[in-house]
Amino acid sequence: MNFELKSLDIAGACAQAGDALILLVPAAYKPGRDPLEALVGQALKAGDLDSKAGKLLALYRPAQAQASRVVLVGAGDGTPRQVRLAVAAALGALRAGTPAVKKLLLCFAAAPQPGAVRAAVAAVADTSYIYTTTKPKAEGRSLARVTLAVPKAAAVQAEFAQARAAVAGIELAKEWANRPANHATPTDLAQAARALAKFPKISCQVLGPRDVAKLKMGAFMAVAQGSEQPLRFIVLQYQGAAKSQAPTVLVGKGISFDTGGISIKSAAEMDEMKFDMGGAASVLGVFRALGELKPAINVVGLMPSCENMPDGRAVKPGDVVTSMSGQTIEILNTDAEGRLILCDALSYAERFQPQAVVDIATLTGACVIALGAVRSGLFSPSDELAQRLLTAGEAAQDLCWRMPLDEDYAEGLKSNFADVANVAGRAGGAITAAKFLQRFTAKFPWAHLDIAGTAWKSGAAKGSTGRPVGLLLEFLLAQQADGKRAVKHAVPKA
Ligand code: BES
Ligand code: MN
Ligand code: ZN
Repeated sequence: MNFELKSLDIAGACAQAGDALILLVPAAYKPGRDPLEALVGQALKAGDLDSKAGKLLALYRPAQAQASRVVLVGAGDGTPRQVRLAVAAALGALRAGTPAVKKLLLCFAAAPQPGAVRAAVAAVADTSYIYTTTKPKAEGRSLARVTLAVPKAAAVQAEFAQARAAVAGIELAKEWANRPANHATPTDLAQAARALAKFPKISCQVLGPRDVAKLKMGAFMAVAQGSEQPLRFIVLQYQGAAKSQAPTVLVGKGISFDTGGISIKSAAEMDEMKFDMGGAASVLGVFRALGELKPAINVVGLMPSCENMPDGRAVKPGDVVTSMSGQTIEILNTDAEGRLILCDALSYAERFQPQAVVDIATLTGACVIALGAVRSGLFSPSDELAQRLLTAGEAAQDLCWRMPLDEDYAEGLKSNFADVANVAGRAGGAITAAKFLQRFTAKFPWAHLDIAGTAWKSGAAKGSTGRPVGLLLEFLLAQQADGKRAVKHAVPKA
């Protein structure tokens, strides 16, 4: 799908051929004298159109426009959120019709607010996305060309470029997260990462079982030992700035399937545990976007990837393993595997002397209970880092919500047989998981995003959301824009 941005007023958009024209009509809109505008004015006056976000009026071959179908849609107060709702509603109405829309014009009747163009691009991509990889007979996405018409293209050029790159990243993340676990093994994910190294400034390194053993990643190895699939520790590096500039490290949980291991999960919805590599998929997506935008920053992506399986060789409840940090861990529940692979990846992150480390993980069912599918859980002892991530989430309409990290929450992780246990009680499960991770982050500013509720949808619309690629990309780019506030560091050790 190809997006383009053009400076066009409504009359200009009406003169363009296409299968459909969507006109976004915010409450503040004052119709001009152009014929379509006059029609909008009449419809508003008669109450046939309402500027409330998502209210629709569909027209067929109106004399006022070249496009075969025209959808007038209320865009509410014109904020990114309302624009997203409006675009989704309009595309929903068009999808119901035949023939399918191939060439779409999306016209802002009034100059878009900051973030509205990005919201529109994201909504078009999201509503038209179709997964086909393991459905060879399925028809793919029909939408091929989308032209955004705004009064002044130059004013939103940068936002548009970021939106387009974000879409490429989000769709890569969706693709890998949606693939069934037998089509997205740790080895397959490593291959996907290697493919990203074809972009300039991106390099990739993949470690296997022997390398990981040499690094003494005992916690990661314990999770992987029950699977026939060999583990992979995937390292992506994007270097857009001088080597002396400390990178931001993203650590993505890459459990390609989570059965729970010996602490096996129940059968209902277990298939959804193919999405348990959503954190790693989001890191792949961010790198895809960086490869396109080429910002002047340095970013490292770490993706520990393996299956969590029950087996004669699988790790057992009560087993004690030694993590790369040297801390011993009593694995009381083998289903709390995400924190085990992440803790070793966090220790590995130290070698980059990062300015910040953000881990992204479908970590706990408790986070789904706490925050649902709307906001990801955000945990960080750093107010500054937390604020930056919250702000990025708002800007990208990919929201998160800060959760506490009081030391008292770590009480339940005490073990009689190791330095720490991998689970506490049921209460506050998302927080106790974060407290476990925090033990491995003493050397750098750190934040943790629990995306268990936001990475995918269940039910009829089952599928990956591509979140939080939008949030992470905005976070990284804003850091670049914030002046070179980045802390200078020594060249990282090999
Ligand atoms: N991948 C799951 C978390 C999860 C569960 C995400 C359901 C989305 C929906 C994770 O590995 C897990 O199993 N966590 C356990 C932790 C518990 C054993 C302390 C959980 O949340 O039940
Ligand atoms: Mn689990
Ligand atoms: Zn898991």
